[in-house]
Amino acid sequence: MNYEEFYKKSIENPVQFWAEQADAIDWYQKPTTILSQDANDYPLWYQDGLLNCCYLAVDKHIQDGYGDQIAYIYDSPVTQTIKKYTYSEVKSEVAKLAGGLLSLGLKKGETAIIYMPMIPQAAFAMLACARIGVTHSVVFGGFAPHELAIRIDDCKPRVILTASSGIEIDRLIAYKPLVDEAIAQATHKPKKVVVLNRKLGARIPFKKYDVDYDALVYGSEETPCVPVESTHPLYVLYTSGTTGKPKGILRDTGGYATALKFSMQKIYGVNEGEVFWAASDVGWVVGHSFIVYGPLINRNTSVIFEGKPIRTPDASTFWRIIEEHKVCAMFTAPTAIRAIKKEDPNGEFIKQYDLSSLRTQFLAGERCDVATLEWYRAHIPIPAIDHWWQTESGWPMIANMMGVEYLPIKPGSTGKAVCGYDIQIVGENGLELEPNEEGYLVIKLPLPPGTLLDIWKDHPSFQSSYLNRFPGYYFSGDGGYKDADGYIYVTGRVDDVINVAGHRLSTAEMEEIVASHHSVAECAVIGINDELKGQIPLALVVTKLGEEIEHFQLQYEIVQLVREQIGAVAALRDVIVVQRLPKTRSGKILRKLLRSIVDGENFQVPSTIDDEAIIAEIQEELAKTKIGSYK
Ligand code: COA
Ligand code: AMP
Repeated sequence: MNYEEFYKKSIENPVQFWAEQADAIDWYQKPTTILSQDANDYPLWYQDGLLNCCYLAVDKHIQDGYGDQIAYIYDSPVTQTIKKYTYSEVKSEVAKLAGGLLSLGLKKGETAIIYMPMIPQAAFAMLACARIGVTHSVVFGGFAPHELAIRIDDCKPRVILTASSGIEIDRLIAYKPLVDEAIAQATHKPKKVVVLNRKLGARIPFKKYDVDYDALVYGSEETPCVPVESTHPLYVLYTSGTTGKPKGILRDTGGYATALKFSMQKIYGVNEGEVFWAASDVGWVVGHSFIVYGPLINRNTSVIFEGKPIRTPDASTFWRIIEEHKVCAMFTAPTAIRAIKKEDPNGEFIKQYDLSSLRTQFLAGERCDVATLEWYRAHIPIPAIDHWWQTESGWPMIANMMGVEYLPIKPGSTGKAVCGYDIQIVGENGLELEPNEEGYLVIKLPLPPGTLLDIWKDHPSFQSSYLNRFPGYYFSGDGGYKDADGYIYVTGRVDDVINVAGHRLSTAEMEEIVASHHSVAECAVIGINDELKGQIPLALVVTKLGEEIEHFQLQYEIVQLVREQIGAVAALRDVIVVQRLPKTRSGKILRKLLRSIVDGENFQVPSTIDDEAIIAEIQEELAKTKIGSYK
């Protein structure tokens, strides 16, 4: 079946389509109800089905005779380690860890936070939780204790799983003290902290609540998978929204498992037994879906990479891994390719490796500029597929479905709507726009299986963030347009979310932190264009009247404040002090105008602005710097 027919089938008869896809996974109890609705009329998939994601990812393959196949390859240039784990080895470790977690009192329906670097034990911890019906919440290791504390208070874990340390290129990051600091800051106090001692750097003293990971695993019996309901929350994954508070995206089990199997085969075009590599982090949705769960549910070998595209040790790392592990399809963020391109513009490293195993390169997480895509294709002549999705969806929404039909690539477009997603471009009034007209990217309900179920313990936010703006549609927060052939072009966020090196961050949250500085009267944080990271934040601050602080000192203190509260990953490096900020007459800061000024784009001074001189003042301050278009 070609793409058009397959897609049409999914939209015209979603129940039949997704009933067929659900047959591709094993259920303890097959669902008889494919699509139903919750008390708020929101769609639920496979409501009466019973299954277990850890069973699908691990135990099933051993039962089918693939216990000796490699499940995970841990490739860590930063520790000079390559270690392979068969499906049987993964099962043994995960089943014992699950037994250990039960012995700590963790029960189905409770939560556990996982705060770990890119090591296999992070995946084992996720699978162990899934095995016993515990909802996990993985927190990206680059977040500071304050961010971790917010998540501890929101999802109230009984247990946190962590590691003694991580490595950022050549710098040891002691994770355990960050967890201790977060627990001290949080109101909710987890009962236990399970710590994997990586034996890197100085020994970190144990606290009363600490449990040694290895001792827990080796002292525990293997425990079986528990069947859970299809709508049972497999995980909560926090993501940045338009407010200072991150949103806990709630994922179901049955819809997600079905969608992941479908994605591996139909979008990524990967056959069982092949090696798939998503160079991301378990702390992001890509890590959940396409490092930990998806590849294993599809009986692939998945690479867990602890390193960076450059400097670990150089821009050849990606190509070395593809050759060495015979990767057939790879996923990364365009930023990573831009970083490699900067270090190796002529692709000299690429020529040194045999990349014949690689069929497809997938790119997502941020807008992919055409120059990067073309550089890639010039040096590696395979399909390089830009595709679009979000933490909320859990799996791709716009792509070139490589397992169905390879459609011609249009650079700048992320392809066509994936099966199950009725993607429309609408205007302010919610009406669909004509081809090539730019508007809001929305999806007609019901969303397909595996997409977000709710916001953890905050249904009103779920409703207001995604469903209220365009009734009957899911509002993605992105803008874009569709051409006459149905190709979609994503132009970027239409809200205060920015994307820094493929990391999704909230400028509203940064603003709250900047505004908390005692010298700051008011501020605006905006995302500006950056050649390497796509976007970076810039803070514009107005100091309190009579404040004597040196600008240089203030800038330093604000950068430190954001690093301490969010983490270095926020990458706030530029702060400018201005006299006033441009506002509408009703007092709303004109962030879009600020972005245009900094990025050197054409702008019109809105009639609602009360004093044009403000803009000239800002331009004058920027001219003294090397920020944005003033470089
Ligand atoms: N733990 C602790 N700190 C972390 C971290 C982690 N897991 N990840 C990043 N950081 C820190 C870095 O050490 C750096 O700190 P510094 O400012 O003190 O140097 C800061 O956060 C910014 O890191 P990063 O965004 O990685 O920028 P970089 O300049 O070190 O590297 C790239 C640039 C392009 C190589 C890097 O951003 C990259 O690999 N990007 C791809 C990201 C990606 O794959 N995203 C996938 C999402 S789908
Ligand atoms: P996250 O939830 O962290 O995966 O970030 C999702 C956001 O990243 C989307 O809402 C988009 O703004 C952006 N994004 C992801 N993939 C793409 C892409 N291929 N092109 C443009 N933007 C993208």
